[in-house]
Amino acid sequence: MQANATVKDYIRTIPDFPKPGIQFRDVTTLFGNPRGFRMAVDQLLHPYAGQRIDAVVGLEARGFILGGAIAHQLTVGFVPVRKKGKLPGKTLQQDYTLEYGAEVVEIHEDALQAGQKVLLVDDLLATGGTAEAGIKLIERLGAEVIGCAFIIDLLDLGGRARLEAMGMDVHALCA
Ligand code: PRP
Ligand code: ADE
Repeated sequence: MQANATVKDYIRTIPDFPKPGIQFRDVTTLFGNPRGFRMAVDQLLHPYAGQRIDAVVGLEARGFILGGAIAHQLTVGFVPVRKKGKLPGKTLQQDYTLEYGAEVVEIHEDALQAGQKVLLVDDLLATGGTAEAGIKLIERLGAEVIGCAFIIDLLDLGGRARLEAMGMDVHALCA
């Protein structure tokens, strides 16, 4: 990789995964590169400098890798939104649909306090269904989403418009 490589340069696209017709954006190559991973974390946090953030919420599964690194950088706690049946404590549940299926996600009901300011993090925004479900869970706990940060925004799939219509601030590093 060249010395002036951008975040996008570290991401590869795998055709027809997990189904024919899906152009799968594989961020493992970004996460696996020390310079690429550091750049992604720094650039994702850039717009929020000076803003109060009490917790980072990451969406399963790739949002955990990114969200953990971002929470560590901010010295705040990390809260997972997981697919149904994975969290051991009492949970709130939210249905959603995505580019290739339907799912239910959950959050521990004691994971956030009312009034906390939360940064929502995931690797990729497609239809926005996953992020919308995460936002709803955060808001049902009385916390406030101050921003939604993604590495990739697949603009054609409408996720940004969907989240912005909910009044969300959306930040992404590449399309
Ligand atoms: C991917 C991606 C986002 C979501 C985006 O996760 O990491 O979470 O899809 O799609 P959407 O905007 O249409 O909701 P996936 O559901 O593949 O789960 P995984 O990370 O557990 O593989
Ligand atoms: N999640 C939804 N659509 C995706 C895509 N095209 N690549 C990677 N993850 C995705």
